[in-house]
Amino acid sequence: MSLIEEVMRRQAHERTAVPAGLATHAGGAVSAARAARPAAHAPAPEAVQQYRVAAVDPDAMERNRVLLRMQDLAVSRAYKILRTRVLHRMAANNWYTLGVTGTAAGEGKTTTAVNLAIALAQDPNAWVFLVDLDLQRPQLGAYLGMSYEYGLTDFLTGQAELEQVVYDIGIKRLAVVPNASPVETSSEHLLSAKMADFINALEAQTPRRIVVFDMPPIMMSDDVLAFAPRVDCFLLVVSQGHTARRTLANAKEVLAEMNLLGVVLNRSTERNDSPYY
Ligand SMILES: Nc1ncnc2c1ncn2[C@@H]1O[C@H](COP(=O)(O)OP(=O)(O)O)[C@@H](O)[C@H]1O
Ligand SMILES: [Mg+2]
Repeated sequence: MSLIEEVMRRQAHERTAVPAGLATHAGGAVSAARAARPAAHAPAPEAVQQYRVAAVDPDAMERNRVLLRMQDLAVSRAYKILRTRVLHRMAANNWYTLGVTGTAAGEGKTTTAVNLAIALAQDPNAWVFLVDLDLQRPQLGAYLGMSYEYGLTDFLTGQAELEQVVYDIGIKRLAVVPNASPVETSSEHLLSAKMADFINALEAQTPRRIVVFDMPPIMMSDDVLAFAPRVDCFLLVVSQGHTARRTLANAKEVLAEMNLLGVVLNRSTERNDSPYY
């Protein structure tokens, strides 16, 4: 973990806007967040954009460890702590977009992205988009057991409009953009004008929402590196016992290109700290 802390410390030094690592969180970042965050007020119901409704499957959610169906209080508490830290740091920096990535497949990026998005939306002042941006291995819709017609690839290839790919899954303040059609040329899609249109359109929705992108690992393709300039900050999901130190060392260069909000240690053996960052 010291490597990550080292990267974060260096970033904090280079960019004064970035809070300096984990230890200082309780100090500067929180008070800055308080100052930066506008007074909480609920938008009028007519000012809230409505999206088409998609059914979800509670059994699929349970199978895939989605928070709503999780009875485990320790896990639920850990996501709330993560949620609050993310909210503070994003507000302190006026950041709205968050990429969830990692170094390898299967470390829990999608699980973390879904559960964090749900936990964020449980805060009455946070409005959230959850977007499947793992274009080669989209899984978000399947994890939620969503029934839907069009996904993100359909928008990117001009076969669907924005309002056809954003779904209300029955969770207040959360809207989801799933994807059912993998594409090989993912980084080209991420850099396309259509993708820029997509991000701009999300940012123009009311009320303004935090966007959580479920992303591929940084080392498997150039997707994260290509898209990093368009994302305000990132969470790195690492898996205890799975993420090799050497892999993290190789990721160092890419990590230096992004605002690293924190590291989520998934599958921690220390129950109370799972997941934490
Ligand atoms: N903390 C955890 N404990 C047990 N299983 C987990 C945990 N986090 C994720 N998983 C499981 O591991 C598998 C891979 O997780 P996923 O979130 O899809 O990883 P990624 O998106 O990084 O490829 C899934 O079957 C998921 O349910
Ligand atoms: Mg995934």
